[in-house]
Amino acid sequence: MERPGARWWVPERPTLDTLRAAVDECQGCELYLEATQGVMGDGPEDAELMVVGEQPGDHEDREGEPFVGPAGKLLDRALADAGLDPTAVFRTNVVKHFRFSGTRGRQRIHQSPNRVHVAACGPWLVAELELVRPTGVVLLGGTAGKALYGPSFRVGEARGRRQDWPSDIGGAAHSAYVPEWVVPTVHPSAVLRSRDRDEDYDLLVRDIRVAADALAGHC
Ligand code: URA
Ligand code: SF4
Repeated sequence: MERPGARWWVPERPTLDTLRAAVDECQGCELYLEATQGVMGDGPEDAELMVVGEQPGDHEDREGEPFVGPAGKLLDRALADAGLDPTAVFRTNVVKHFRFSGTRGRQRIHQSPNRVHVAACGPWLVAELELVRPTGVVLLGGTAGKALYGPSFRVGEARGRRQDWPSDIGGAAHSAYVPEWVVPTVHPSAVLRSRDRDEDYDLLVRDIRVAADALAGHC
């Protein structure tokens, strides 16, 4: 299978607007074939915090905006409960096209992207990082964590503690801009699926508060 990676499609001097237009043309891996559209990150260009999820979901794929479905709504509530203004946060994903396998009614069944997709898609995230230049990053979930830190990453061990940004995304794309820290936590969709939803929600807020405190210069 041809996977040239996204580099060729990333504009040379991008703005957030030109990135959004360009991602829809990307054929850097096969995921563009089945998805409705490419979904770039969204938020202010001067955001101090970037939240990085896995990939657009069913809702995001249809609407062309990140985190507009149930997981995104829970994320916004958790950001607010951690003392952050959700509209001041830049929210994006390691992979920009929705990967799914089959359908259940109208809903398509989410399938996590693998390392090959993450590596192919890395240049888009690098372009966003270099434009937004966030002080810190909150990383959502085990798949995104493994995508950045490799297969030994365990969200349960890493969550809520500041880490360094990895040198390469998926072992491929390299960012000239390096955020000061990364705080991994669980994916909000894991909270939605949890049996202990209230407890897991509180733990998600606790982790995001580590990032909020770092931004406020409390530690
Ligand atoms: N889950 C993600 O990881 N990203 C989105 O944009 C939506 C749901
Ligand atoms: Fe390009 Fe990423 Fe979409 Fe693959 S998933 S086609 S690399 S934008």
